[in-house]
Amino acid sequence: MDPAALFDSPREVTNSSISDPASQVGVGGRTYQAYREDTYYLPNDADEQDRLDFQHEMTAILLDKRLAVAPVRNPKHVLDVATGTGIWALDYAAENPESEVIGTDLSLIQPDMEDTVPNCRFVREDSEDPWTYDHKFDYVHLRYVVTCFKDHRTIMRHAFENFLVDAAVIFLYLIKAALQGLPDPLPANKMHRSLFVPRRDARLIMTRAVNPGGWIEYVDQSVEPMRHGGTAEGSVWHRYVTTFLATMAQFGRDLQCPRKYKRWLEEVGFVNVQEQLIPIPMSPWPSNPKLKLAGSYALVKTRTGDLQVAKPIFLRNGMSDLEYEELANEVKLEISDRNNQFYILLVVVYGQKPPAG
Ligand SMILES: C[S@@+](CC[C@H](N)C(=O)[O-])C[C@H]1O[C@@H](n2cnc3c(N)ncnc32)[C@H](O)[C@@H]1O
Repeated sequence: MDPAALFDSPREVTNSSISDPASQVGVGGRTYQAYREDTYYLPNDADEQDRLDFQHEMTAILLDKRLAVAPVRNPKHVLDVATGTGIWALDYAAENPESEVIGTDLSLIQPDMEDTVPNCRFVREDSEDPWTYDHKFDYVHLRYVVTCFKDHRTIMRHAFENFLVDAAVIFLYLIKAALQGLPDPLPANKMHRSLFVPRRDARLIMTRAVNPGGWIEYVDQSVEPMRHGGTAEGSVWHRYVTTFLATMAQFGRDLQCPRKYKRWLEEVGFVNVQEQLIPIPMSPWPSNPKLKLAGSYALVKTRTGDLQVAKPIFLRNGMSDLEYEELANEVKLEISDRNNQFYILLVVVYGQKPPAG
């Protein structure tokens, strides 16, 4: 397969980025979202946007270019939670012109594609806040969100629960309307980042969640260092990952929790929940051509993106710049050695809201 052929999405993949004015420069000189303090620990700058888009292409290889793994058919309303650069949402909308796709994120780093992909729009929100939309969804998609949420079950409950009106929000809306008058609702296709207004002002009746019979899908990685036919323990990479996991745990993030998504979805009430585990080779060590290609992508991504994006996390934890660079160089050498046969897991989990009746 020609890797260039994979870069056929409607978004420019490299050498272009979208900067969000609601950002601030933080540890390591990287730029971070400033919408919600201490909510998300990875940057939103050009390098991160390229890393996310590159990761999108690696994921496409692993999933045989399927954007949806769940057996969802002709969904009218699609929600991509924590959409990042919006590359999945745009691709899905382009592939499914009958669907209306909303991508949400703390950072508005998505391109304006309204002219070419009019059925996709982006909204700034913290997905751990109540979801307030004027319709339910037939398909909710979440990808690479393991670093995002304090409690993933909050998101699952937002997707499952089905009450029509958030009384508190309506109450506040009515008070505001009494004081200021009713604002004109924006047409849906104008609710784009540049014209963003809080949706609570734009809508009166708010519903949320997945429609009965609709689907929720997670595609995520479980950061568990593994070696084909053995253990990764004792390696520098294992030590590096273990330190990273411990630091992220201090921020309340469990980077191995994707293996719990299936159980959590079932506990929340979703049915027909399925889990697929797919190896992500850390280098092109497998003989299987698809996995070899994915391993090539993973190696480039780790060397040029993941190790850089994780650096501020280690610095925040007291490691010096020099100590980090030495450790990262050792990791680069070790994962590049195909004999090590390292891998982590891509975890795909999907479930259905029980059909009505
Ligand atoms: C690792 S990126 C994944 C992006 C995208 N889903 C993809 O697969 O390319 C995680 C994204 O989640 C967003 N995010 C983090 N916490 C969030 C929250 N509480 N609510 C909404 N978005 C959030 C970040 O801003 C970032 O863009």
